[in-house]
Amino acid sequence: MMTPKALALATSIAAMCAAAPLHAAQAQADPAARAAEVEAQMTDEERTQLTLGYMAMSFGGIEPPEGAIPGAGIVPGVPRLGVPALRETDASHGVTWVGGARGDGATALPAGIAQGATFNPELIERGGALIGSEARLKGFNVLLAGGINLMREARNGRTFEYMGEDPWHSGLMGAAAVKGIQSQNVISTLKHFAINPQETGRHFMNVEIDEPSLRESDLLAFEIAIERAQPGALMCAYNRINGPLSCGSEFLLTDVLRDDWGYKGFVMSDWGAVEALDFALAGLDQQSGAQLDEGMFFGEPLLEAAQGDPAYAERLGEMARNVLYAIYDVGIGEDVPERTDAENEEGDAVALATAKEAIVLLKNESGALPLAGDARKIAVIGGFADAGVPTGGGSSRVMPDEGPKAQVPILRGEASDYAFFLDRMYQGVAPLDAIRERAGEAQVVFRDGRYPSEAAMAAEGADVAIVFATQYQTEGYDVPDLSLPGNQDALIAAVAEANPNTIVVLETGGPVVMPWLDAVPAVLEAWYSGEQGGEAIASVLFGETNPSGHLPVSFPASTEQLPRPDLPGIDEIEPSFLGRGEPGQTLDADYGIEGSDIGYRGYAKSGDAPLFPFGHGLSYTEFEMDRLRLRGAGPALSARFRLRNTGETAGADVAQLYLVSAGGETKQRLVGFAKRQLAPGKSARVELEIEPRLLAEWEDDRWVVEGGEYAFALGHDAGTLMEPVSVKIDRFTIAADGETVGQ
Ligand code: BGC
Repeated sequence: MMTPKALALATSIAAMCAAAPLHAAQAQADPAARAAEVEAQMTDEERTQLTLGYMAMSFGGIEPPEGAIPGAGIVPGVPRLGVPALRETDASHGVTWVGGARGDGATALPAGIAQGATFNPELIERGGALIGSEARLKGFNVLLAGGINLMREARNGRTFEYMGEDPWHSGLMGAAAVKGIQSQNVISTLKHFAINPQETGRHFMNVEIDEPSLRESDLLAFEIAIERAQPGALMCAYNRINGPLSCGSEFLLTDVLRDDWGYKGFVMSDWGAVEALDFALAGLDQQSGAQLDEGMFFGEPLLEAAQGDPAYAERLGEMARNVLYAIYDVGIGEDVPERTDAENEEGDAVALATAKEAIVLLKNESGALPLAGDARKIAVIGGFADAGVPTGGGSSRVMPDEGPKAQVPILRGEASDYAFFLDRMYQGVAPLDAIRERAGEAQVVFRDGRYPSEAAMAAEGADVAIVFATQYQTEGYDVPDLSLPGNQDALIAAVAEANPNTIVVLETGGPVVMPWLDAVPAVLEAWYSGEQGGEAIASVLFGETNPSGHLPVSFPASTEQLPRPDLPGIDEIEPSFLGRGEPGQTLDADYGIEGSDIGYRGYAKSGDAPLFPFGHGLSYTEFEMDRLRLRGAGPALSARFRLRNTGETAGADVAQLYLVSAGGETKQRLVGFAKRQLAPGKSARVELEIEPRLLAEWEDDRWVVEGGEYAFALGHDAGTLMEPVSVKIDRFTIAADGETVGQ
C-alpha cells in the first residue's frame, strides 16, 4: 500500500539495492578493539552522551535533541569521532507509525504471534531484512524489535507482539528476525529481558520465580536467540523479578548476561523503566526515553558519579564500549542514515507471504473449506471486515501510508491523548473486498454484526456465512478474560443457528475460548495479519493458499486451565496506560506455579486437554511422518525422519519432534521442528540436530542431563504424538556459557 510517490522512490531504491549495497556502513573485523580505541579518545561527557537516550518527540515540555525523527528515541552521537547518533524506532512488525507524525507509513507485517505461527525462520528473516531496510530508508539505525517474551499469561495484553510459548521456537524465530534486521546494518534489540508477562500493573509487578525455572524457559529463549543472532542491543523489561526491577537487576544484566553468556552488545532500558543511578552498577548501559523517568540519571548524575567514584568511572567506560561494540559489530556506519519516505518495494509481497503462512486452520469438517466455487450467496459478518484487519495497540503499531481504515476510541479517560496508540484500529486490505474479488457471480452481502438478529437474517438464505470475530489487545492493558468481547459469542451462535455452514475467522492477539465451537464446521485463526491480511484470509478461504500456520501457543479450554485462573492483580489495579502505581506499590505474582512448564509442557504434566494444543494446524491436504531414527548418546544427538504429503493438494506441514519422557518421567519439550512444502505424494527427509540444553535441568549453576532413557515422539502438534522412540543417553553437563561440556 504505497502512495505513487513512495512507490516510484521505492522502485528506484530497490533497483539501486539490487545493484549495490544500500549504504557504505560496514561491520568492523574486530569490533571490540575498535570500540576500545574510540572509547579511549572520549571525554567523560562524550561517554555519558552514549548512555542517555531521549524521547524522539517533544515530551513533557522537553524538545528532543537535534536530528531526531518522530519515532521512539534518540541518543546523540559523537561526530568528532565518527560515532553516529542512534535513531531508534519500534518494532517487530515494521517501522511504527507514531500517529502519522512522520508523514509516512511503512510496510505493516503481521504481528509477532502471527510470525510465530509461520514456524518458518527463513520467512521471518526475510521479514526482518525488509523492516530493517525500511528503518534505514526512513533514517533509523536502531530497530526496537525482537519481542520474544514467552506467553506465561494468556491474558497478557501484548501476547500479539511475541512469538509464542516455547523457548526453542521463540529463540529460533527471534534470532531469525534479528539476523534479517541486522543484515541491513541496523541494530536490533531482543526484548523485553525478562519475562514481562502482564501489562496491567507492569511498572510494579514482581515476578516470583526460582532460578532453574527461569533458566529453562524465558532465559533460554533469549540465550538461544543471542547466540544465533548476536543482537546489538537488549531491552530490559518493566517488571521486577524476585525483587529488583529488571533494568536494575544485577542477576539478569551482569551475572547471567555478561558473566555466563558473554554478551557483548549493550542493554538499553525500556522507556520509563529506570528508577535510580545505581542501575548502571547493576549492568544497565543506557537509559532510554529518559524524560519518562523521575530523573535523567544517566546524564549529569552519572557524569558526576564517574568523576568522583572509581566504580562508576569504570562502569562508564564499559557502558560506552558496549554501545560502541554494537555500532561496529552491526556496522551501522559513521553517519545517521539519510531520511526518505520510501518503502522497500518487496513490502507487500513479504507481508502477504507472511500472513498466508501465519493463518491457522483450527477446525475443518464436512469439507466446509475451501469454499465451493458454486456459491450463489455469501454473507460476510462483523469484525470491520469491510474496512481492514485489526492491529494491536501501543508502541508496536505500524500503518501503511494511508493510515487506519477504521478507528474506534477505547474511551478510557487518559487514553484520549494517546488515541493513536490505544484506539482500536483496522488497516490494509479489507477482507470483504478480497472476498468479493474471488466470489465470481455470487452475491456477497455484509452486516456489521452489531445485531445478531440482523446478521442471522442475512446468513439464513446464504450458501455460506463467514463471521469475522476480533479480540483487541494493546500494550498497557491486559484482557480480563479469554472471551471474545462484546456480543461476538452470541453473534456467532445466532449466525450458526441460522446457517449451519458458518465459518469463523478469528482475528485475535492470542488465545480465546470458543463456546460455539461445536456449532460451526470451520474456524480459521488469522491473528493481526498486517496490511495484506485481507488478501491472505480470502486466499485461504477460497483455497488458493493451502493453510500451513500452526499455533505457537496453546489455546486453553477455559481460564480455569490457566496456572493462575484469576489474573494476578485484577481486583487491585485500576487499568491505566501510564499508571506507575503508588510509591512502593508492588504486585507479586507467583510464576513458580508452572515453573518452566509453560503452556503445552504444563498440559503434558497435568493431563488436561486444552481446546487446541500448541503446534496444532490443519491443511487442505494430509501429511504423515515415519521412520524416526535417533543418533547419538550424549550432547551430539540428532534425529531423522520422513514427512510425506499423502493427500491430493500441494501444501506445507510443520513436523514437530518432542521429548516426551526422561528417565521414565513424563516431560514434554519441543526439541525440533521443520516446515516443508510438498507436492501431493511427495516426501522429504528431515534431519534435526537436538539442542542438548532442551533435555537438561538447571542445577548448581550448570545444565545437567542425567543418564537414562529419553523418549522422543514426532507430533502433528503437542497433543497428537506418534509412537515414541527411546535412546539411552549418558550423563553430561554443560557449563553456564552454553558450550563447555563436562561430566
Ligand atoms: C515498550 C517498548 C518500546 C518502547 C519505545 C515501551 O512502551 O514497552 O517495547 O520499544 O516503549 O517505544
